[in-house]
Amino acid sequence: MEKLKKRSWAEPFKIKVVEPLKMTSRVDRQRALEEAGYNTFLLRSEDVYIDLLTDSGTNAMSDYQWAGMMLGDEAYAGSKNFYHLEATMQKYYGYKYLVPTHQGRGAEHLISRILIKPGDFIPGNMYFTTTRLHQELAGGTFVDVIIDEAHDPTNLHPFKGNVDLQKLESLVTRVGPKKVPYISVAVTVNMAGGQPVSMENLRQVYSFCSNHGIKVILDATRAVENAFFIKIREKGYESKSIAEILKEMCSYSDGCTMSGKKDLLVNIGGFLAVNDYDVFEEARNMVVVYEGLHTYGGLAGRDMEAMARGIEEAVQEDHIKARIGQVEYVGEKLQSIGIPIVLPIGGHAIFLDARRFLPHLKQIEFPAQTLAAELYLESGIRSMERGIVSAGRNKETGDHHYPKLELVRLTFPRRVYTQAHCDVTAEAVEAVYENRSRVKGLKMVYEPKYLRFFQARFEPLS
Ligand code: F0G
Repeated sequence: MEKLKKRSWAEPFKIKVVEPLKMTSRVDRQRALEEAGYNTFLLRSEDVYIDLLTDSGTNAMSDYQWAGMMLGDEAYAGSKNFYHLEATMQKYYGYKYLVPTHQGRGAEHLISRILIKPGDFIPGNMYFTTTRLHQELAGGTFVDVIIDEAHDPTNLHPFKGNVDLQKLESLVTRVGPKKVPYISVAVTVNMAGGQPVSMENLRQVYSFCSNHGIKVILDATRAVENAFFIKIREKGYESKSIAEILKEMCSYSDGCTMSGKKDLLVNIGGFLAVNDYDVFEEARNMVVVYEGLHTYGGLAGRDMEAMARGIEEAVQEDHIKARIGQVEYVGEKLQSIGIPIVLPIGGHAIFLDARRFLPHLKQIEFPAQTLAAELYLESGIRSMERGIVSAGRNKETGDHHYPKLELVRLTFPRRVYTQAHCDVTAEAVEAVYENRSRVKGLKMVYEPKYLRFFQARFEPLS
């Protein structure tokens, strides 16, 4: 027999506990979709076969994390799990002070309220839904300073999440540095397709901002995934460990907001971490009002323990290689059958390009929302719209934002699905693609005021 040459990657774990999946019929799914107003956020999880809605809080914890859950110290104040989380954050992220929050948006709320004055401008490398909303609620205006390449789903720039320093500089010149309290730099950039930021760019942004008295706050939600891309794509980092790269990334910032529900392999949790004592002092005061005492921030002791252990596991080379390897596997499969996806393939998800998938639909007919509904109907696979619905409305004019990117996200929870699930997913997308010309758009029949994509309802255009 001929010797096999190429060696595959494989999951660096074996399965100890299983959770059965429910199979549904097309008739069941049609009914479920109508009840959900054609919004995948409104489906019952029970009616979903493979759930690729999000990688947020949907990860499988390890036996080490579950063992930590039993060591929860549920004291109201001064839980030992808080101190463990604090020390672990300091070791791996390198910031001085930690304020736990129930999840990422809790941290975004705190930092926005502390640093933004009404009339301020907050640049960022593409908006994220909750991040921008908290900035706006605090009286600020978000300004997109991501490089132009990020808005083009076919552009192969290796660091499509990079900040455009020219755009940043022209904002600062236009409004003056006093009106720019900080820049929020997402590593990786979710809405651009899970695209990373280079170390060089982080260094330049930090140097520019430090010179102008502007803070750099990382959205470190998927910073470990970003570190992996730096390792494989940026010169000089090939032989550095993920942990070393992560810490260097954070060294070019003044703090971070964190949704632990992603990189950190937990089902709930987040934190704000900063180096400035005055900001910490203020955050520690405010967290008591909105989340809980400063040593638990809305989390149980056991949740903080699981997150501390998740920090350690997240930077393991085997883990991150397989995590991103799985996403890449699906992406390459879809590419090989000609499905239009965002390239390069990102860290946490495959993004279908709904504009090219359903070119006969106008943006106001919600192509990405429609595609997510069709994929569910075809297969029971749940995905998420990331296009005009997610982009919401302009807070001044009340018009829809019309984002260039009109995407459907197939998001992979960490350590949850197998390669066979990946194959089934690719087959389902292919089946929808074959029938794409028959697909009609949607109209919005209910629109909530905030973060409308979560609860909006639609009906098919006849
Ligand atoms: N920042 C980024 C980049 C995110 O992706 C998210 C959440 C948050 C902040 C907010 O964190 O959910 O813990 O409050 N993203 C989820 C998603 C919801 O599906 O992408 P949170």
